[in-house]
Amino acid sequence: FCGIVGFTGSNNYQSAPVLLKGLQKLEYRGYDSAGLYVSDETTGTDQLVKENGRVSELAKLVASKDVKGSAGIAHTRWATHGVPSVDNAHPHKSGDGRFYLVHNGVIENYAELKQTYLAGVHFESDTDTEVAVQMIDKFVKEGATTIDALKKLIGLMDENSAYGFLLMDREEPERMYVAKQKSPLLIGIGADFNVVTSDAVAMLDQTHDFIELHDGEIAIVDPDNVQLFDQTGASVTRDIFHLDIDATETDKGTYPFYMLKEIDEQPIVLRHLISRYLPQDNEPQIGEGIINDIKAADRLYIIAAGTSYNAGLVGARMFERWAGIPTEVHVSSEFAHDQPLLSENPFFIFLSQSGETADSREVLQNINALGFKSLTLTNVEKSTLWREATYALPLIAGPEIAVASTKAYVAQITLQAILAYALADRKQLNLDLEQELSKIAVTIQGIIDDKETLQKVADDMLVPSQNAFYIGRGVDAAVVLEDALKLKEVSYVQTEGFAAGELKHGTLALIEQDTPVIAIMTQPSLAGLVRGNLAETQARGSKTFTIVTKAIAKPEDDLVLPDINELLTPLVSVVPAQLLAYYTSLGRGLDVDHPRNLAKSVTVQ
Ligand code: F6R
Repeated sequence: FCGIVGFTGSNNYQSAPVLLKGLQKLEYRGYDSAGLYVSDETTGTDQLVKENGRVSELAKLVASKDVKGSAGIAHTRWATHGVPSVDNAHPHKSGDGRFYLVHNGVIENYAELKQTYLAGVHFESDTDTEVAVQMIDKFVKEGATTIDALKKLIGLMDENSAYGFLLMDREEPERMYVAKQKSPLLIGIGADFNVVTSDAVAMLDQTHDFIELHDGEIAIVDPDNVQLFDQTGASVTRDIFHLDIDATETDKGTYPFYMLKEIDEQPIVLRHLISRYLPQDNEPQIGEGIINDIKAADRLYIIAAGTSYNAGLVGARMFERWAGIPTEVHVSSEFAHDQPLLSENPFFIFLSQSGETADSREVLQNINALGFKSLTLTNVEKSTLWREATYALPLIAGPEIAVASTKAYVAQITLQAILAYALADRKQLNLDLEQELSKIAVTIQGIIDDKETLQKVADDMLVPSQNAFYIGRGVDAAVVLEDALKLKEVSYVQTEGFAAGELKHGTLALIEQDTPVIAIMTQPSLAGLVRGNLAETQARGSKTFTIVTKAIAKPEDDLVLPDINELLTPLVSVVPAQLLAYYTSLGRGLDVDHPRNLAKSVTVQ
């Protein structure tokens, strides 16, 4: 959670505009409050500006103060300890204003540290971060150098703590101290400047060359130099990697919201995946090591959270039915602390758009310690889950900025389909996957082109409602979980995705006059049963909308999709649900890209 950027350049640079632009790109990571600190060697002034709410509010305040200086640090916050407020916004400073710190993560034992080391010290915030900066100040006052004070603080933190620290000392106005444990941080390299960021996307306007920081490492970043040290204090050398992302991919362009842009990009995402992983003759291009290791396993465990978990529920059916491999899907936050009995020779697949989800990483660390092999499917190359798994494959969906995930879901299902296809006996399967995926890309485009129809449905049926249901059976029971998550998170309409047959076992009690019930029916053998379940809700007054495939369609159905491979239908049927969610949020006057209380990359447990 939270976004961090830092910049230090030679004296002809102004850091504040770079920091604000970076924060804007990081807003998806948290948007409760934002702040920056800029130090300036030439004027000798230090400027700390913080504001509640969005980065645009901070930018206004910064403009009114004429902040100047070539080095600074900034932060956009998703509250963990302490309510969203100006006092709790980062950067936090030590009592006499010598040290300034931004922090991404959680210091688990901050209350104990405060009690033990900082009795009698005045605090301006309720945050764990202020405890950290005050401790650094205290250790320096006791004679430590700044880097030793930082190391001492790190040594005293509970091992479950997570941090990405970016620290400035006013006595070294051009220098940034950086430290990382669990929370992501990268150092970006420029010609006569250097940057630090929790996500490369924020700094692509400045540089495409980055150095990764590993857990436990500390770095000292000056305008013309970067020094890296491991836990023992030994100097570390690490290669620079070049990130080949077009900075304009992270712009909204003419779209009013990123979510709509990302929904629109889904046909392209499919085409990119086809050309990368199925370049010709339906021969999947997945590394041999991955295929051999999965074939040697007796069971697959798919581990993920949220939308990625929902994509795993769809993928599992392909691994079982196409490739004949028993597959379980688990929510990472549960698996991490309540691990089920494992098979003798398991293989783990991690699904994660960001590659940084702390819950999933916890599982990966546990299974790495047990010596099991794993594969991460992620949209962010070089992310933590990418690096720490045995294998990794990119989703190549392009940066996903809207908090509500859309194209990553489609990419995750597609890549799992290609992987399952690679593992299957393809002669027996009798499926032209490339052709099927191409047909799906065209179908998705058709739904997108007709989006106004769905806007009308959203306005009539969902905008005025307090609650709603999505129902389906078989693979549709998996996709309705994603449909419901999308609607609830961006519109705040309380929505449940339900296995249609399960409704009558209790939840049917919630159906009242005009309760919206949307049924997804793509499985011919199950459609009759779902229609029966839908009728049971209609008998209690529900307002219904049906999304069906052609083979199942009846004159009364509302949206008819072409027939496609049964297990691939979620790739298509999710799109109207994404658009319904988008338009419901819009119709309710909400900020679609920034649903309340959420952040995109969830790096706390
Ligand atoms: C919902 C959403 C979240 C994420 C979840 C996992 O729209 O985006 O539920 O899917 O936080 O994140 P990743 O995939 O980055 O591990």
